[in-house]
Amino acid sequence: MNRPLPFTPGPIGVFDSGFGGLTVLREIRALLPEYDYLFLGDNARAPYGTRSFDVVYHYTLQGVMALFRRGCQLVILACNTASAKALRSIQQHDLPRLDPRRRVLGVIRPTAEVSGRLTRSRHVGILATPGTVASQSYDLEIRKLFPDITVTGEPCPMWVPLVENFEYDRPGADYFVRQSVGRLLQRDPQIDLMILGCTHFPFLLPKIRQAVPQGVTVIAQGEYVARSLEDYLRRHPEMDALCTRGATCRYLTTEDPERFDETARFFMGDDVQSDHIDPEET
Ligand code: DGL
Repeated sequence: MNRPLPFTPGPIGVFDSGFGGLTVLREIRALLPEYDYLFLGDNARAPYGTRSFDVVYHYTLQGVMALFRRGCQLVILACNTASAKALRSIQQHDLPRLDPRRRVLGVIRPTAEVSGRLTRSRHVGILATPGTVASQSYDLEIRKLFPDITVTGEPCPMWVPLVENFEYDRPGADYFVRQSVGRLLQRDPQIDLMILGCTHFPFLLPKIRQAVPQGVTVIAQGEYVARSLEDYLRRHPEMDALCTRGATCRYLTTEDPERFDETARFFMGDDVQSDHIDPEET
């Protein structure tokens, strides 16, 4: 299918493997309510965190293309796994051939930027998917900006399935939360800042906060990504002009829309009526 992509102003696209991106979308809409948004959750193929580089890249590019085709000129990868494994290839390889005027931004850099002012001990822990941890993206980004910080990444393979399967607020989730937090602190007891390096993890935040000792700060990245987007739009008026302002938000999912709407409604505190799209439509 080689239909030309529309180049007229459109909504800001927000992409994630599943529900996690809603934690970012919520913060972005709170800070920048005037824009239109189009969210796509690839719930049918989540989780991405245990998949290979090539698969995550392929799925993410399909998601980005689906959003471009529906009028988005700017897409936020509200997914650390996709940001770690696909963003660079999409920016360097795909955008120049698809349309160099479009932009795709990730979530790792804005989160790394704030880490330096939130740690005193200069020991930072990253709780993320196995894919994000293995990519070492946080280590590289944080140490580029703050060479004095020691970064330790802990893979949490069970946390995304807990969220995608609606188990995040049930008692069984406590076990897996305590297990990963405990392992991270065992590996580096000096950590005083834990970054939730997966956009699904804020669903588990109450349990994570209960599991960390006093003196350890836990941060979710949504508000930092939102502020970074605000700054980006201010610095790029040509892109800002391509983002429509009607204060609407629409949702797409590759899974069952009713199932999606239930969680999205609860989480966004808003009426959600998503539409289904075929993940393979590209
Ligand atoms: N929410 C995504 C992230 O931030 C992906 C989780 C997954 O699908 O494994 O990494």
